[in-house]
Amino acid sequence: MIRRRLWKQVLAAMVLLLSLVLGLLILGYQHVTAINFGIYQNQRNRMVHHHMVGLLAKYYVHHGNSFIGVQSLLAPMSGLAPGPVEIISTHGHIVGGTTPPGPVLHAMRRHLPIQVGNHAVGQLVWSAAPHPEPLAIPVGFLSMMNHSLIMVTLIALIVAIILSYGMARSIVRPVETLTEAAQQIASGNRLESVNIARQDEIGALGDAFNQMVHHLQIQNRLRETLVDDVAHELRHPLTHIQGYLEAMLDDKIPLSKDHVTTLYHETQHLNRMVGDLHRLAQVQAGTMVLSQQWYALDAVVEQVITMLQPYASKTGGVQLEMEGARDWPKVYIDPVRTREILDNVVRNAIQHSRPGAWVLIRGTANDDCVQLQVQDFGEGIPLDAMPHIFSRFFRIDSARSRAKGGVGLGLAIAQHLVQRQGGNISVRSRIGQGSTFTLTFPRRTS
Ligand SMILES: Nc1ncnc2c1ncn2[C@@H]1O[C@H](COP(=O)(O)OP(=O)(O)OP(=O)(O)O)[C@@H](O)[C@H]1O
Ligand SMILES: [Mg+2]
Repeated sequence: MIRRRLWKQVLAAMVLLLSLVLGLLILGYQHVTAINFGIYQNQRNRMVHHHMVGLLAKYYVHHGNSFIGVQSLLAPMSGLAPGPVEIISTHGHIVGGTTPPGPVLHAMRRHLPIQVGNHAVGQLVWSAAPHPEPLAIPVGFLSMMNHSLIMVTLIALIVAIILSYGMARSIVRPVETLTEAAQQIASGNRLESVNIARQDEIGALGDAFNQMVHHLQIQNRLRETLVDDVAHELRHPLTHIQGYLEAMLDDKIPLSKDHVTTLYHETQHLNRMVGDLHRLAQVQAGTMVLSQQWYALDAVVEQVITMLQPYASKTGGVQLEMEGARDWPKVYIDPVRTREILDNVVRNAIQHSRPGAWVLIRGTANDDCVQLQVQDFGEGIPLDAMPHIFSRFFRIDSARSRAKGGVGLGLAIAQHLVQRQGGNISVRSRIGQGSTFTLTFPRRTS
């Protein structure tokens, strides 16, 4: 059960963060405004004083190089000047000042020369405020700004909440979809992929989830078909055994050694099937332990030929022959498992050869791999059977194959075992002309 919804947590975190940022902004704003206002005032004062100096210089020239009566010029300027000013002649006498006159503090005295041409004819003197003071900002202006700021902040907060909600939902929605799909799988109901059209980490999570679903679907299908296949394969020998036993019990056939031998062969077949199925399951699940080593494939071929020669002679006098040079480079294989693979391929070739025919085994090597070909000149494999030849329990003529003790698992196991060793197995065949199985083993380990 979900106690704390993720989207609520995301939303709360965003609102908290925003409130913090906006709060800090409001606090910092007054300070920054005060400083900027002070700077602005200073700049404005400097401009006013420069302007005044220009006007005073003009006055001096127009009044015959004299400041007499300058007070009449300063009177209308009083409102303009940021504070009390004084005009001091070159002799150091105060010749005028703003009205109402005020003392020009000595501590922070500033002055600008009144220039006529290159000559200073006097000085404009004023006192600069020690610091730009926040109090200097008009109170009405400040409260208006505060009001506007609070309004803007509120609007920003509302917009931010709406946006954060949308964002939080858009993050959480695919997570909810994934959770629901995973719960369905966990409860064994549905095995469905999800549609998450995103390019970010959540999209990657969706892709990984879909891959997992795909894998599980394949596994399920395999499991279902495996159970069907096994049931189907077991039915035939079991029916056979049951039929014989019933007939013997009903005294329809005698309890002879021949009949018991038939039953014994059926149980042998069943035993082999169970053993092969177990091996197939192990190699498919990757739990079969391989002990790989650098090994010469020609040695494996020789062992298989020696082992199968008596069987080939018995089966219509088929002849096994190893063709070509023997100096194949070593490959990284499990010799025991590779012998099993080759045993099945060569045994198949013998079984499907005409009496007295050859089965040729040849090896070729290049920089990348060593290839082993097993060629027979037998009946060949029909085209429509080719795609299924490595499927478990597949037999072209199941009755005939079963009669020869074939389970139909040999090539399926061989394919998985070769692939586990980094190689592959393929087949070419022509009806009536024979088949060639090619096993490829890489010369490098990955
Ligand atoms: N060289 C071949 N020529 C013609 N058909 C072949 C050849 N090799 C295999 N097949 C066909 O492929 C089928 C599958 O072969 P596979 O080795 O998997 O099973 P099997 O030989 O019937 O039984 P087993 O599990 O005992 O090996 C065979 O039953 C046969 O029909
Ligand atoms: Mg076989």
